[in-house]
Amino acid sequence: MTGFYRYMLLLLGFFSMTKKTDGVQVNAARSGITSQSSTYGNWLSQNAIDGVSTSFTHTVSQANPWWRVDLQKTLSVDRVVITNRRDCCSERINGAEIRVGHIADIYRNPLCSVIPSIPAGASYTYSCGGMLGRYVYVVIPSASAILTLCEVEVYGDLSGNFALGKNATQSSTWYTWYAGHANDGNLGLLQPSTACSSTNYHNNPWWRVDLHNVYKVNRVIVTNRADCCLDQVNGAKIIIGNSLENNGNSNSICAVIPSIVASESAIFDCDYMEGRYVNLISPRNSTALPLCEVEVYGIGPWLKRSFVRIEFKSSASLTDSALRVDLLTQLQSALATRGISDVMLRWSQMPKQDKRQKQDVKRKCP
Ligand SMILES: *[C@@H]1O[C@H](CO)[C@@H](O)[C@H](O)[C@H]1NC(C)=O
Ligand SMILES: *[C@@H]1O[C@H](CO)[C@@H](O)[C@H](O)[C@H]1NC(C)=O
Repeated sequence: MTGFYRYMLLLLGFFSMTKKTDGVQVNAARSGITSQSSTYGNWLSQNAIDGVSTSFTHTVSQANPWWRVDLQKTLSVDRVVITNRRDCCSERINGAEIRVGHIADIYRNPLCSVIPSIPAGASYTYSCGGMLGRYVYVVIPSASAILTLCEVEVYGDLSGNFALGKNATQSSTWYTWYAGHANDGNLGLLQPSTACSSTNYHNNPWWRVDLHNVYKVNRVIVTNRADCCLDQVNGAKIIIGNSLENNGNSNSICAVIPSIVASESAIFDCDYMEGRYVNLISPRNSTALPLCEVEVYGIGPWLKRSFVRIEFKSSASLTDSALRVDLLTQLQSALATRGISDVMLRWSQMPKQDKRQKQDVKRKCP
């Protein structure tokens, strides 16, 4: 038999990594949400981000007093600047720890620095070397202490998140809950309808981001809604790969989300899985898949991709995998004879027979 077959190949070219240029950094603490372990009088936690040198925060005397800012996004934190009180008790800051991470449980977040002391009224800078975090904590590990702060500033950048602003799509869209809301850099916990994504209710709803190039993905961070429907993300698979077969849902699984606490960001390690597409798909029927944020970190771009569509007449269908491998090998050596050796060919989807028939297109006149 003779027929037309249409084949799609993924052409992967090795890509030299470029160092990202550092943009202007703003104090991300200013737009964050603060809290502290307790509040003495009206010395509120937000006094540490108001830019005013005469207003302070103050906990009561307690074990492990802490202050934190939820940056409402994941920042690659370069540095934290702490300003001590200038009116009194400057020694209270001694021994305080700065911790940066994603976990509401303070001590499970990695340590950025320990503050030996800061002179009254002085601002000291602590380098965190790009630690990834949504929360910045200041905590005094002590059986009984008071934490009082004048100002906390947090500087860093968002450029480590490969998913940020890239093309996203989902199986369907619930009202204004567009796919792109899940990778807009805004957790949007307070305005989910304009800052979180959601599909409609149906079987196995999915969401996908196209990273445009191939990355090695180290971690994916998923933030759940704050308001309702928290269990809809339970059981969702995080899938990474280069194929769009089955809308990208047939690629390899990085993790299955057990559950995520309201408004929290859960981290999934993907051990540098290679891929251009990151999908989340629910195993459930008649459910929606809402996402407030999906962040993707790792290294790259590591490969640049382009798709090649090849059409030819053949008496053999490429359902035989040996034939498919053989064709790639032939194409690869044909490219090599033209001096193109730094590319790698892969099937991006199973070859399909083209059902199209040759027809004369006749314009119908009214
Ligand atoms: C994003 O997706 C839209 C719709 O599929 C497409 O037209 C557009 O070219 C894509 N943008 C990029 C940068 O790939
Ligand atoms: C979803 O529905 C399909 C088809 O009706 C069924 O085969 C499958 O078992 C259902 N899955 C779940 C998780 O209920």
